[in-house]
Amino acid sequence: MDYNKYIARRAKSIEISTIRYFFNMVNQVEGAISLCIGEPDFTTPEHINKAAVKALNEGKTFYTPNAGLLELRQEIAKYLKRRFKLEYKPESEIIVTIGASEAINVAIQTLIEPGDEVLIPQPSFVAYTPCTILAGGQPVFVPTYMEDDFALRADILEKYITPRSKLLVLPYPNNPTGAVMNRQQLEDIAHLVTKHDLIVVSDEIYWDLTYGVEHTAFAGISGMWDRTITVSGLSKSYAMTGWRLGYIAAPEGLAGEILKVHQYSVTCAATMGQYAAIEALRNGDGDIEKMRDEYDKRRIFLFESLRDMGLQCFEPRGAFYVFPSIEKTGLSSEEFAERLLWEAKVAVVPGSAFGENGRGFVRMAYATSMENLEEAARRIRNFMAGL
Ligand SMILES: Cc1ncc(COP(=O)(O)O)c(C=O)c1O
Repeated sequence: MDYNKYIARRAKSIEISTIRYFFNMVNQVEGAISLCIGEPDFTTPEHINKAAVKALNEGKTFYTPNAGLLELRQEIAKYLKRRFKLEYKPESEIIVTIGASEAINVAIQTLIEPGDEVLIPQPSFVAYTPCTILAGGQPVFVPTYMEDDFALRADILEKYITPRSKLLVLPYPNNPTGAVMNRQQLEDIAHLVTKHDLIVVSDEIYWDLTYGVEHTAFAGISGMWDRTITVSGLSKSYAMTGWRLGYIAAPEGLAGEILKVHQYSVTCAATMGQYAAIEALRNGDGDIEKMRDEYDKRRIFLFESLRDMGLQCFEPRGAFYVFPSIEKTGLSSEEFAERLLWEAKVAVVPGSAFGENGRGFVRMAYATSMENLEEAARRIRNFMAGL
């Protein structure tokens, strides 16, 4: 049967992420080392797992409130205050979501009407654009450059703002580049946000993973609390990607509306996972630090190895990605990724998967063992020498 005529145009107009395409290809190459996927290689710390098992054994298998267990929202509020000095009311300004992924989607669905423009710095995470398109909005891509360490520049952003601009996505620390934004840079962006009356979806899922620099939460910049929907979650900080736990923190006037979209999409996040999240937020700071220290060693190793090979690469200060330029090889990012996989058995993601502006780069995730990274570096070096 031809289902084409049944499928909505907006669904047809989006595509499966090419990251998955490469990820699936890795399985066809025996012995391949994958630097493809953006998730911790650590398993969830045991005390967090135990909290979920305990909840199950105690019969906590029912729906929770739509916004999540109040106890969890209280823990999130404490965490936001403790780590970033952000104040949110657990009763009305925090929503527990199914990963940051759902948080991004419901925030965009709640705000965007047909014709509204959403400003999306690029390269960036693959979800913002399809979520905008599904909401009927118009993605407007704002380029960022290696020369600026991939930070979003206010003077460039302003060129892309029009009377139809409604929302700015701020994806820092950034996937795929590993870029972070400092306070001054964020203040420059904040100035434009006020001037042009924008709302910001600040995706700070990697805010616990910065190296040698302190993360500044955008909602904490003067005047921005009222205009910011902060999105984060437990996936990256606590090695909990499979639990699907994220959250939104936003002023009540926004959170209350987002909650309706969330309610009719998913009812609530999985109950046993919410109990695990309470434990993570209460007693997991040490886990974050341990994993971050390990990522940092790998970051330095990979970054330095790539530079030694002569690949142009800025030093990433956040998340767990390195984003070298492969322009000097004369290959496109897709060709480089395909050949590296088939000829050297190392899987990376072409930068073009993260937008036009990612062309000429590849993303390498260092969320894998040092042993794997050392072997991957050796293979990449040989591959480069043979080009
Ligand atoms: C920048 C960014 N935001 C959001 C997500 C989604 O995370 P979650 O597992 O919480 O849905 C990812 C996952 O890779 C990401 O890189």
